[in-house]
Amino acid sequence: MGNIITKAITGLLAFSYGLFTMFLYGYLAIRKGTFFKKRTERQDLGLQLARDRLWNLSKDYAGLSHYFLTLQSGFKFHFLSNAAPGSPSVLASDKPLVIFIHGFPDSWAIWRHIASSPSLQNSANLVAIDLPGYGGTESLEKYTATAVLETLTELIITLRTKYGIDEGTQTNKKRVIIVAHDWGCVLSMRLAAEAPSLAHRFILSNGPLMSLVQSNVRRILASASKMFKTALGAPLSSRTPLLQALRTLGPLLRQLKMSGYVFAMQLPPPLPTYFLTGGNYSLMAGIHKGSHGRGEFTPSDEGTSMASSMGPSLAESKTQTATGESYPTTIKYTHDFANVMNMAGYYRDGAAVARWRKSAETVANLHSIAGGSELRRTNSGAGLLDEGTPGALQASSTVFWGKQDIALSPQICLDGMADYLVANSQVVMLTESGHFTPIEQESRVALVKAVEWAIHGEKGDIGAVLQECYPSAKVLARR
Ligand SMILES: *[C@@H]1O[C@H](CO)[C@@H](O)[C@H](O)[C@H]1NC(C)=O
Ligand SMILES: *[C@@H]1O[C@H](CO)[C@@H](O)[C@H](O)[C@H]1NC(C)=O
Repeated sequence: MGNIITKAITGLLAFSYGLFTMFLYGYLAIRKGTFFKKRTERQDLGLQLARDRLWNLSKDYAGLSHYFLTLQSGFKFHFLSNAAPGSPSVLASDKPLVIFIHGFPDSWAIWRHIASSPSLQNSANLVAIDLPGYGGTESLEKYTATAVLETLTELIITLRTKYGIDEGTQTNKKRVIIVAHDWGCVLSMRLAAEAPSLAHRFILSNGPLMSLVQSNVRRILASASKMFKTALGAPLSSRTPLLQALRTLGPLLRQLKMSGYVFAMQLPPPLPTYFLTGGNYSLMAGIHKGSHGRGEFTPSDEGTSMASSMGPSLAESKTQTATGESYPTTIKYTHDFANVMNMAGYYRDGAAVARWRKSAETVANLHSIAGGSELRRTNSGAGLLDEGTPGALQASSTVFWGKQDIALSPQICLDGMADYLVANSQVVMLTESGHFTPIEQESRVALVKAVEWAIHGEKGDIGAVLQECYPSAKVLARR
């Protein structure tokens, strides 16, 4: 009974906080004047042109072409690449494979600056995917951890075959690097923890490692609760223990304040849709402007950002690639945002934290690409039985953190990270950057450098390598 009541109260609190956030954001947009602002004809034209640039299948984007891969289940993925998957020259080449995975509310196009770098295109096969429910990839019915991670894993294993990483009895013929941001980072951290054989290096930016977050939250709650108990026993005249307890809760409350939008996403439909698109996309417009950091935000940037979030429209849905492929027929192509409930689905259905129930096929596939090297991969060298910290990353990872991130508190997301890393891993603080590292001017240069470093065999210290282009980059932790 007590359990039910606690659940009901927590549910009600979460609901109220979600609703409060929605109204707060609406109020802020009204006060700023963006809520009732009509989109101009020029903006609509800019959006249309940008959608043609990003989503017209018969067009290349800066050396990248559109491709599709259909998984065994029939699920169709859209991605861009500088090399045709499965072509004899790609299978024979010894270039590493780099897979880019975006976050909320983006698509492959958040990597447009990085994946168009000539130096990367010359030395690697680059693949920038649309996650399920985003851009030109089909949607899932539910965004549970199992549904999302199984689909993503099958895609990566298929890409590894199509780009000649594993063939016949030969595995790991070339290196695989996964580069991910925001939700892509959350999911890729789960892959690095639970399916580490998928890549040789993970480069991960500005997304929480949920097992670490949960452990930090538990630690803070436990010590605050101890202090509250002490405070209760203390004489009324002494307020110090109570203040101390509140101060301990500080980082948690700050993170909760920054996470209001997560609660708004949990509201019953159609409220999340209204939250994400109401007031003529004032929230999206705010996110897009913020994503450019202190850099310039031109009308062209605005159109491109909106086109990246919205995905293909009806016009682009009728286009075809050079080999006659087209977008999945299951996507609703509209003039505006058809995909927002998919975006909210990742927050609503537990993709970040729920248990991933691997299918027997996935287990077998992961084992096969590991080529029997799982035993060597664990940090202490003590083998599979020593799992160490639960939820720790089991593959070499470079974690980037834009210090000015307004959505993620470093005390909750970074404290204790060193315990969650294996050998050859680092946490790098980008002091001048915010959340959107693939878009902001300085940080995208740093990301390109890091990918180059990974492609060319990780020569030299990553801190020194990064400081060549980002002088204040600081390695916070390493293993
Ligand atoms: C949005 O734009 C339309 C026309 O473009 C306008 O009529 C409407 O008042 C605007 N605001 C809201 C909140 O929808
Ligand atoms: C897509 O691009 C092709 C080639 O540039 C162009 O001919 C075609 O009109 C475009 N399709 C749409 C629907 O815009």
